This record gives sequence, C-alpha cells and structure tokens, in this order.
Amino acid sequence: MKNLFILAITCMATLTSCNKSQEMDKEKTNAKTYMEEFHSYAQPNDAVITHLDLDIDVNFDTQVISGTATYDVVNNGATAIILDAKYLEIIAVKADGKETRFQLGTMDESLGQPLRIEIKESTNKIAITYRTTAQTEALQWLTAQQTADKTNPFLFTQGQAILTRTWIPIQDSPQIRITYEAKVQVPSNLMAVMSAENPKEKTADGIYHFKMVQPIPAYLIALAIGDIEYKAISDRTGVYAEKSMLDKVHTEFSDMEKMVVTAENLYGAYDWEQFDVIVLPPSFPFGGMENPRLTFATPTVIAGDKSLTSLVAHELAHSWSGNLVTNATWNDFWLNEGFTVYFEIRIMEALYGKKRADMLALIGRQDLEDELESLKDSPNDTKLKLDLKGRNPDEGMNSIAYDKGYLFLRTLEEKVGREQMDGFLKSYFKKNAFSTTNTEDFITYLNTNLLEKNNITFNTEEWIYQPGVPDNAAIIESDAFTRVEKVLQAFVETNTIDASITTTWTPQEWVHFVRNFPEDITLEQLQQLDDTFYFTDSTNSYISMVWYEQSIIKGYHGNKVDSKISEFLNTVGRRWYVTTLFKAFKKTDRIEEALTIYKTARPNYHSVTSNTIDELLGL
Ligand code: BES
Ligand code: ZN
Repeated sequence: MKNLFILAITCMATLTSCNKSQEMDKEKTNAKTYMEEFHSYAQPNDAVITHLDLDIDVNFDTQVISGTATYDVVNNGATAIILDAKYLEIIAVKADGKETRFQLGTMDESLGQPLRIEIKESTNKIAITYRTTAQTEALQWLTAQQTADKTNPFLFTQGQAILTRTWIPIQDSPQIRITYEAKVQVPSNLMAVMSAENPKEKTADGIYHFKMVQPIPAYLIALAIGDIEYKAISDRTGVYAEKSMLDKVHTEFSDMEKMVVTAENLYGAYDWEQFDVIVLPPSFPFGGMENPRLTFATPTVIAGDKSLTSLVAHELAHSWSGNLVTNATWNDFWLNEGFTVYFEIRIMEALYGKKRADMLALIGRQDLEDELESLKDSPNDTKLKLDLKGRNPDEGMNSIAYDKGYLFLRTLEEKVGREQMDGFLKSYFKKNAFSTTNTEDFITYLNTNLLEKNNITFNTEEWIYQPGVPDNAAIIESDAFTRVEKVLQAFVETNTIDASITTTWTPQEWVHFVRNFPEDITLEQLQQLDDTFYFTDSTNSYISMVWYEQSIIKGYHGNKVDSKISEFLNTVGRRWYVTTLFKAFKKTDRIEEALTIYKTARPNYHSVTSNTIDELLGL
C-alpha cells in the first residue's frame, strides 16, 4: 500500500512514464495483501511465487519423482523467500541462476518444514532441485494389480488440503495463486495428465508438456500417470480412463457437456476452457477432486445407470466455488464446499428435476444430523467458520462445511427468493474470480449486496459462528422419500412389501430405505429383504456401502455379506465409504474383525484414508 502511495506521487511528477511504471510496480508488489495463515510457512507479503516451471522425471521402479521446480518470484525487499516442504530431499537451490544458501527448518508433523532460501532484493527467479521420498503423502504409487486393466502401474497425486508440499517444494497456501508449466518424463507406455492443458494421446518418448494459464492455488496442482486413454464427449468435455473402463465411463458421464451448459446458465461462463474427468483406480481416497480442467474421480460412481453422477456436478461446481473463488484459509473451507453443494444441487435440479434434487438435499440433511451427533462432544467443529490453528486441516474438515453450508444457503435462498439469490451468487463469483475470499469478506459482501439492499434481516452470524443448526433452518422434504419411509414402516409391521412400488425406485430411494431401518428390525427381516432385493450383491457402491453399514451394526451375516464387506474394504479406498464401515465396526465393538480386515486393506489405501483409519482404530 505504502509503495503504491509513493508511486502515485511520483506518477504525478513524471506523467509520461507513469502508466508503464505503475504497471511494473503493481507487478512487483503483487498488489495484494495476504492474511495470516496457520497452515503454510510462506510469508507472501515479503516474497511470493507467481509462476512454476516444473521439470520432473517419474521413476516407477524407485517410486521417486525428481527434478527441478523453477519459480518466478516477486520480492518485496526480503532477504529470503520461504516455501513449504515435507518429506522432500532438497538437493540444490539457485537464485537468478547462481547457487544460493537454503535451510530446512524444524519438522512439524502436519505442516512439514519451512524451506528458507536466501535471495537478493533483485531476485526474480529461484530453482530448486529435489526428489520425493518414500514418506510422501500426496503420491500413491499403485501396482498393476491395483488398477482396472492389471497390466501397468499407476500414479496419482492428491494435493488438498496441504499435501502438495510433499511432492513439490512450494508456497502451499490457498491464498497464493500461480500459473504453471511442466515437463514430465514418464515410462513411454504410460500417459501423463495434469490439472492443465492435457494430451489426448500418448507420446512416443513418454515426455509430456503441460501449461496452466489460469492462476491456481498449490492444492490444485495434480498429476496422474497410467495406461489411460481419452474419449471426448463434446468439444470441451471428455473422459480419461483405463481401456477396460473407457466406454463405461464415457456412457456414465455422457451428460457432462449439458452439465457445463447448465452451470453456466446459473452462475456465469466456465472460465477454464476444458472440463474433463479422469476415473482413477478404486484406491482414490475421494469421491472426486476438483483439479482444474481435469476432475479426478473414484470408479465407485460408475454405477451403469448414471445414478451417482451428482459427483460430477459437484466437482464441476467447484470450477466456480473453490477454483475461481478460493477459500482464503482452511478455516473458511465451508466457502468452498457449502457453496459447491448448493451449486451441485441446483445443477441437478435444472438438469434432472426437483425430485432428484430433493432427494440429494434430504440425504445431505440426514448426513448433517449424523455428523452433529458424532461431533456432540466437540461443538466447535460444528461451526461453519472453523478454528484449525495448531491442527491438521484435514481433521476439521467434516461434512459440516458441506451440509450445514448447504442448509445455510438454502435457508437464505428461501428467505430472499431464488432470483435474488442467483443474482447475488453470480455477482459474488464475478467479483472474486481468480482470487480468494474469507468468511468475513463474504459476510460483508452479503450484507451490502443482498440483505441491506433488500431490507432483509438474517441471522448470518449465528449460522456461521455458532455450533449446531439455527431454528430457522429450511425444512428439507422429499415426497419420494416420504413414500419410501411408508413402505419401510409397512414392511416392518407386516413383513410384506408391495414390489410394484419398489420397481421404479432409484438408488437414492434404496439408500434412504436401507439407511433408515428402525432399531428393532429383526435379523429375519434383514434376511428377507436381502433375499428379495439382493442388497449384498448390489452393483451400486452407495447401496452396498449403506447395506454393509447396516449389516455390521445389526449383526447380520446372511448371504456371505461378511466376505463382501472384506472384499469391498480391500479394494475401495474412498475415505467416506471406508470410514463409515470401520466406524460401524467400532460402534458395535467388533474391533478385532476390523483390525483383521485393515491389516490387508491398509497397503491399498492412500495416506489420506489410512491416516483417518489409523486414528479411528487407535493405531
Ligand atoms: N474437494 C473435495 C475433496 C477434498 C476435501 C479433498 C477436503 C481434500 C480435503 C471434493 O470436492 C469433494 O467434496 N468430494 C466429495 C464428493 C462430493 C460429491 C461430496 C467426496 O470425496 O466424497
Ligand atoms: Zn467438494
């Protein structure tokens, strides 16, 4: 700010060269003030990176990525620039082409180490030669056996929340945006893709060049390498998958272009040109990850009937809420996820109708009740605005941000009306595009642009800063689910089900049915349901997961469900699914069984999932 003020005076004196030098100065100071952040060692107000040029070699034999990360730097007069690094071997560092001194600070279990690099006032480039280690948390190296085709190994990265620093030394804060280029050398029988402009075919030499021209935070840098192929859906959408999955994935996600159009009609142009999805091996720890231009997804959503594609709507929505307008700190995580769930459900409603949207919303409402119950001893974690100082952000990231965040926006929508809400959200995305925002800035923006303008009072502060759910929460209803509940109740009372009703049920209705078994449902009844509807053999991962959960909790052992559960946990690494099942074992004191399964399953899990389960099982 001070610099700009001095500049303004200088400008008045020397009018001729003013514009140019003003631009240069803006570039130099980066014209942005960063707020204090607890999950990165970077001091961006002193010296900040603006562009990454990555040149790496990916070695599947040694399971090491090695190479050089070169950064454009804006130095505001500091003698050092600080990056984040965790479990990296730093080999050499240069500033402006010359070797410079660097120092790795004390290791913190969740944050890693500050990498302090000495620079000069004039420094505008640094280059770090490094190598990853066996402890890297972002990378999951998979054997051929862990893939769909079973013939080639696979590698993928997961950056969010603070894992990018385990495969690239970087200023790993959501507030710091960079553009990037990369040259990646992989074995020539494999293809590499990133959250960037991507190849559509393999190269002969295994060298791939990438370019990401829109500035993004470090947690969105991503890489996947495997024997994959591309199949386009439209000019700007398509899918990557292993050969044996490609057609299935393509059919499942065939509405992707329509989703992008629907999203654009709601909240403005899609700013990332391309929207592709890569379906990864089943150990991928999330349902999806919104890596820009290329969402990473679990194969567990490939149900064969497009029933679980709201996940694509969700990750697509992040192209606005999260990737375009990014939470300034992980305490503001709800700004990413709550807005995204709201946006996701709006896309699903516009594309597939109110019935589908209502079901999604009500499933989320029930998830919220479950989460509130499981967090009843730590009410602070049920606030939208979190306080994760001194904690690993991963710990505080539960479904509150998603489902309470959604409920807040839905309640607000009902208060102000849909038209006002949409105008407001559209302008919010536009105003903050390619930037970050925090909870307090959001509240100010909301007050000025929606509430005060329309003379509306709303208990925003209670929603955001208090635990639990305020009394004015919107009532979420689904007629379809009400019917499901009636069928369930009738079954419990009479042991009969009118099959003519259930034939038209969607997987969501079955999920609701299974999840809401009453306390006193009998084992005979579970057996009868299983024999009639084949839950144990369901091919829909969501139905399987809730059925397995119920089986564990109720002690049902029919139709070899136990071996199915074990097989599921040994192949699927999606954290939400895996955690739900291990929690069920824990709740019913079946820890021994859980440990037996976990012993063989753990090596298949990404660190994100194994860390959670280690903690859950007290390992
Ligand atoms: N960005 C999240 C995944 C994430 C969150 C990774 C926090 C690391 C830390 C992603 O968009 C997401 O929310 N995925 C959900 C799917 C969704 C449909 C709710 C998931 O993985 O289940
Ligand atoms: Zn999300």
